[in-house]
Amino acid sequence: MNYINISMLALALCLPGTALAVDIEALTAECESCHGPDGVSAHSDVPSISGQSKDYLDDSLHSFQVWGRPCIKTLYRQGDTSRPKTDMCKIASGLSDEDIEALSSLYSGKPFVAATQDFDPEKVATGAALHEKHCESCHSNGGSQAGRGPRLAGQWTPYLKATLKFVPTGEHLVPPMMERKIGDFSDEELNALMDFYASQQK
Ligand code: HEC
Ligand code: HEC
Repeated sequence: MNYINISMLALALCLPGTALAVDIEALTAECESCHGPDGVSAHSDVPSISGQSKDYLDDSLHSFQVWGRPCIKTLYRQGDTSRPKTDMCKIASGLSDEDIEALSSLYSGKPFVAATQDFDPEKVATGAALHEKHCESCHSNGGSQAGRGPRLAGQWTPYLKATLKFVPTGEHLVPPMMERKIGDFSDEELNALMDFYASQQK
């Protein structure tokens, strides 16, 4: 047997082991080249993933695997930024259940850091009232609680707006109560809600 054949045999013997082990460093390097160090995003169209609940992160990644929510094509922000555009459906399709479990545990255990961003201070009270009436039951503590309904307070407004567009069309599956409400809101009401979430910067 020559060297190449021996190393291929060694590789074949190793594969079952390597397929099971989660290489968390390689995974997080991939995630953080868009979501930022520790999952805190510096880009307004990329959500922060740190401090969301484990259930929400786990469900979101499984949902991307089956196109249960749309995927927006996006460029890499760090590392080799010349890599072609990709999206979360493609990225999630490469993850095993063990990878998803490890990543969800890791990022849910890291602190959420609210984005520093502009908002209209005059609309915050209107947004807070709309939130209290229609959203607080699932996104509690003014949207700052990370649960099955994800944390909204301090998340990037451009990202939230982009993802909410897919709710009334049924492309991003959310509870029916939320879907109905989002569809009913005027742009002004939605903007006021966003101002309320963006105002929570601590
Ligand atoms: C090339 C950039 C890129 C990479 C790499 C990337 N993401 Fe994303 N991710 C995004 C963008 C942009 C969005 C928002 C758009 C969308 O939902 O399609 C997103 C959305 C998400 C969401 C949904 C967040 C929410 O609030 O609903 C999760 C969870 C997520 N990514 C986790 C990960 C994990 C874990 C990895 C690493 C395995 C990863 N991402 C790698 C760009 C990226
Ligand atoms: C009945 C419970 C419920 C109510 C009421 C509700 N939501 Fe949600 N919301 C959820 C759940 C659960 C998800 C996660 C869906 C998924 O798996 O992507 C979600 C997701 C979201 C997201 C996507 C967040 C992200 O990081 O991608 C936004 C934005 C949002 N909700 C805003 C609102 C607003 C604004 C209201 C009030 C008008 C509202 N929700 C009312 C349960 C609810």
